[in-house]
Amino acid sequence: MIRIDSVTKRYPDGTVAVDRLSLEIPDRAITVLVGPSGCGKTTTLRMINRMVEPSEGTISIDGRDTRQQPVNTLRRSMGYVIQNAGLFQHRTIVDNIATVPRLLGWSKDRARARARELMERVGLDASLARRYPYQLSGGQQQRVGVARALASDPPVLLMDEPFSAVDPVVRKGLQDELLRIQDELGKTIVFVTHDIDEAVKLGTMVAVLRTGGRLAQFAPPAELLTNPADAFVEDFLGADRGIRRLSFFSSAGLELLTAPIVAVDASAEQIAARATEDVPYLLVTGLDGRPLGWSEPGALTAGQVDTGRLLPCGRPFAAGRDSLRAALDCAVLSPTGWAVAVDGEGRAAGVVSQAAIGEAIRGAHANDTTGTTGFAGAPDLAAVQKAAR
Ligand SMILES: Nc1ncnc2c1ncn2[C@@H]1O[C@H](COP(=O)(O)OP(=O)(O)OP(=O)(O)O)[C@@H](O)[C@H]1O
Ligand SMILES: [Mg+2]
Repeated sequence: MIRIDSVTKRYPDGTVAVDRLSLEIPDRAITVLVGPSGCGKTTTLRMINRMVEPSEGTISIDGRDTRQQPVNTLRRSMGYVIQNAGLFQHRTIVDNIATVPRLLGWSKDRARARARELMERVGLDASLARRYPYQLSGGQQQRVGVARALASDPPVLLMDEPFSAVDPVVRKGLQDELLRIQDELGKTIVFVTHDIDEAVKLGTMVAVLRTGGRLAQFAPPAELLTNPADAFVEDFLGADRGIRRLSFFSSAGLELLTAPIVAVDASAEQIAARATEDVPYLLVTGLDGRPLGWSEPGALTAGQVDTGRLLPCGRPFAAGRDSLRAALDCAVLSPTGWAVAVDGEGRAAGVVSQAAIGEAIRGAHANDTTGTTGFAGAPDLAAVQKAAR
């Protein structure tokens, strides 16, 4: 465990970048430092590997003060990844990644073999090995940066806004890749970002810092979203905090209705049997069971539905695997107000109304144990939605 104990950093010009910061960074998990520009995130990260020396306080790893270790040994136990990757422009990709193993005295062949193994691990095609950094896209360069940091298999990774310079789609890919790698390797990762969504997605623990390098809150993301410590944290989390919090609740508890579903070749009897009074729309599926779209029962032609006239059913959610947020999003975007759930093969597993999702949200809040405030006073979402219709 990395323990930051009452650490202050005062730069020679008097700037207090970090102010009596204490954090216990858990092993084999991702701890995210988040906060506005200039709040001391980079300074904190650099104090961990002693690129910056603390003015006061101590940082220890597994109980050992980092000042008692030779700085080279310390840094070799920590991979470091920065924005724009910081690659050596005159070295090929494979040699960039092999840098630290070479410094550790590995033979060229062994270091390159290791580098190629890591390229595969971070999702880089082997054909890129002999290119130079300028011949790669920003996202690919960032992957090289991660591979280089992992090359000597250090127990700790320090990552300073590693994905900030790439577009949102590439960024999401890099985040997913990091989570996958972390599942396999179980590193102790300290990850700096400005982006609260990135923090919530990646962090096992999230430290929110405020300007002046003071800790505002240190908590798992779900708790942060439930119980922001003060107005600063609440502001930082943004206006859609409640919606984002739904990402932490599973859709598994939703009761899916299978009655309002018919196949594209349904007979008149089948359609009539399914179209009960409280079902304004039927979901039509292909013969393979995949959802095609919605229709009012009366508009369906028995035997062969005209699929061109169906209302779109949008992107369905994966029953049980996706969160309540995903289910709610489906319902909100659906022209009928009903969300479609699919199984692992993409076949329609059932449909669920906005009102039923509202009930499930209320239930999840009531049973939630991450918060301490409780949701006894939460509005009746189903009633709110009914009123809105
Ligand atoms: N070498 C330095 N000398 C003096 N002040 C510095 C030095 N390095 C950083 N600072 C100041 O310390 C404060 C924290 O800087 P730091 O780089 O740690 O912030 P940050 O949270 O990483 O910001 P950003 O999100 O913009 O990267 C800032 O006010 C910065 O101007
Ligand atoms: Mg910074």
